[in-house]
Amino acid sequence: MFEGEKAPGKFPAIQTESIDPTAAGSPVADSHDSEKLDPFRGIVFKDSNIENSAKFPPALKHSITRPPIRKRRPLERLRPGPVGCHEAAFVTKIFRAAGFDPANYRLAPLARRIPACLRALRVETLEEALDLFQSSPTALNTAIHSLLIGTTSFFRDETVFHQLREQVIPDILSRRKDPKIWSIACSEGAELYSVAMLVADYQPLCEAQFYGTDCRSSAIEIAHRGHYHPSALESLPTGFLEKYFTQEHGAFTVSPHVRTSVGWAVSDILSEQLGTPGAWDLILCRNLAIYLDETTVKNLWARLAAALTPGGFLIVGKAEKPTASGLQREGPCIYRKTSFCHPF
Ligand SMILES: C[S@@+](CC[C@H](N)C(=O)[O-])C[C@H]1O[C@@H](n2cnc3c(N)ncnc32)[C@H](O)[C@@H]1O
Repeated sequence: MFEGEKAPGKFPAIQTESIDPTAAGSPVADSHDSEKLDPFRGIVFKDSNIENSAKFPPALKHSITRPPIRKRRPLERLRPGPVGCHEAAFVTKIFRAAGFDPANYRLAPLARRIPACLRALRVETLEEALDLFQSSPTALNTAIHSLLIGTTSFFRDETVFHQLREQVIPDILSRRKDPKIWSIACSEGAELYSVAMLVADYQPLCEAQFYGTDCRSSAIEIAHRGHYHPSALESLPTGFLEKYFTQEHGAFTVSPHVRTSVGWAVSDILSEQLGTPGAWDLILCRNLAIYLDETTVKNLWARLAAALTPGGFLIVGKAEKPTASGLQREGPCIYRKTSFCHPF
């Protein structure tokens, strides 16, 4: 039913990821060499103001699924390939200062964002950026915001949202009226609001529970406010603009009954607990894994599989192919938990 099915004209074309997810580099020198090559070794960042705490509801907070503790890997294990050592060291410093483990990420896509990062910081060189981190309390947040790509929009990927509306959401609602739905790496919130609007088309929102998390506090603030530029709304289904938004001064705001049904939290999915196993009916984790290291991705899928309730759904990005025991592919980007499984 999913494969090759033509989506209705109601959902217009969508934008795609701007970064090539297949671009991987090759290993470079050993750890001692990379230490020697690291021109910024010894610099201490003082201004790590990235908020990094999961604020799940208490019922979901207790127990299980911490990611396995991994020894900090040396720089060369980041597989920087053509990325220069200055760029590799720069990204690594920023990530560590902000409380993220850079070894979880593929370096090449991050390094390609350095020019955008320097522009956002209004400096021209890596050295100037590093100096800025010593003096500006907001510079580190700005750097992380520009290095971690947050591309998103409402109803991004017409095929997936068609299947969510026609099959996944009706299936979930036929089993329970109070589903738990989680958008991981939700960026500025358009993805989760889109799902909430689909659910609202079936039943009153007060019964469902929606959570959106992202490691960038700046993105979560935008999600919480729910104000969007018209360009983020280009793929809205017919009638949704009138039904689910209010307009003021050229910006669109998600209507209060949708906004108040959704909870947001700043959370690093790679280091936080996922809560009670089997708690979630629907997890969306789209366009994050493409930026992650292979081992990290494998662990992430296993943890998400464990977090889903049997029969629950995992929705991923176009270039992402979860492999975890108990997960079965249902269609493009749609996976289903077939049985209870332990993460490790
Ligand atoms: C390309 S956006 C995807 C947005 C949305 N899921 C979509 O597909 O439209 C990737 C998001 O992953 C977030 N991210 C990166 N590392 C993360 C981590 N360790 N924990 C949580 N979010 C993370 C980034 O901040 C960014 O907002």
